[in-house]
Amino acid sequence: MLSKIRIVFMVALVAGTGLTAHAKDSVKGPEFNEDGSVVRPIDWETWVFVGSPLTPNALNGGKAAFQQFHSVYIEPTAFQHFKDTGEFANGTQLVKVRTHLYEGDDCFNPSEENGSCQAVSGRGYFNGEYSGFELTVKDTERFDDPGGWVYYNFGEEPQKWADSAHQFPAASCNACHEASAGNDFVFTQFYPVLRDSEPMISDSRAKAGAEEASNTAGEGAGGSGVTQAAAVPLPVSTDVEELFAYLQSGKYREEFPLAEPEQHPSIGPHVNFGKPVRAYFSAAVASSLEAGDHAHPKGSMIVKDMFSDDGSELIGWAVMQKTDEDSDGGKGWFWVEFLSTEDPSQVPVPAENGLALCSGCHASGKDFVLSKPFE
Ligand code: HEC
Ligand code: HEC
Repeated sequence: MLSKIRIVFMVALVAGTGLTAHAKDSVKGPEFNEDGSVVRPIDWETWVFVGSPLTPNALNGGKAAFQQFHSVYIEPTAFQHFKDTGEFANGTQLVKVRTHLYEGDDCFNPSEENGSCQAVSGRGYFNGEYSGFELTVKDTERFDDPGGWVYYNFGEEPQKWADSAHQFPAASCNACHEASAGNDFVFTQFYPVLRDSEPMISDSRAKAGAEEASNTAGEGAGGSGVTQAAAVPLPVSTDVEELFAYLQSGKYREEFPLAEPEQHPSIGPHVNFGKPVRAYFSAAVASSLEAGDHAHPKGSMIVKDMFSDDGSELIGWAVMQKTDEDSDGGKGWFWVEFLSTEDPSQVPVPAENGLALCSGCHASGKDFVLSKPFE
């Protein structure tokens, strides 16, 4: 079976035909009903387990959006294709099976405060009963949704999971996956099995990116507009007080040549998912975004105004500034978020280069920039 798949790909490559059609033959997609709904996979327990994110209520203000362990599995033929190519083929299926935290007698001294309990292996969180069952399917030929991905939920009660489900509107699910997932709408950054299955491919991609960046940097004084932009000094400094004073002055709204046309709900946690935001782009980053470059020049700065629920009041800023030519996994960017327009000490997380919280989520963007003002 394995070698057969490889041969199919080689033939496809040699013949120069589209890979997708061949991939479809070897990747086992889901079944669909006549009304377009998808049939719930029943053999998912035999699929390849890729990871298990945990979002305990205790760390989410008492109510996590999704209870609580999220165990993610990929259908085996889709996994094989991913291992071979680093890409998700049409027909790929991933399920996310959620479970509650274990609360039974084998788990003693339960903590009201954080929901943990004690087992013979130590204090912690253990898998309890099943709760929700979700599925995502990629098929760029079948679906017009962004990326060709569609998302389904079969309900929260294990004995009553539906036998089939209709897809969610793209607006409910695709945008967050597109903006924040590590690889093609899938959160591979949280799934060690998938992460480790594509080392060769991600290495070569990273190298290609780095070469492109150094070519741009090395083009010299007579080079492109991007190179000239690289020579422009940082608009302001990374001194938090100085930066705050600049933000308060509102000068970026006049000085930066590019802005999002209006407020829009944030698909990131700025200040909270869904709250109105509007971003402004300095000249350096505006020109490299327009040129579609893979790296932005040193001196790039983006300021995001963050507003109250009804959009009437400015309540803070999120800022990223590129302080080095090399992005170095996010360390070349300086990150800061202010949750006040009066008090520069209202920073929820340290203002610093490479801050993992910010750069981790932004890593899926083009050189850490997630907005796409030219698309
Ligand atoms: C605010 C961001 C966000 C939105 C909106 C969102 N997801 Fe996700 N989704 C995630 C994150 C983060 C993960 C990674 C695993 C985890 O934490 O559960 C994920 C993982 C998944 C997975 C596992 C495969 C993968 O792509 O990584 C499925 C299936 C899934 N989500 C279904 C849905 C469905 C159905 C919807 C719409 C009803 C939805 N998601 C909306 C953030 C989001
Ligand atoms: C969970 C993911 C996530 C985290 C964590 C996150 N962001 Fe963002 N950020 C986004 C998304 C998504 C956007 C795109 C615009 C939007 O919808 O808000 C964005 C946009 C921005 C922008 C506008 C430029 C761009 O890249 O589009 C800035 C500036 C920014 N974030 C700064 C920060 C800072 C500073 C932090 C850390 C304090 C941070 N972000 C943490 C998801 C995240």
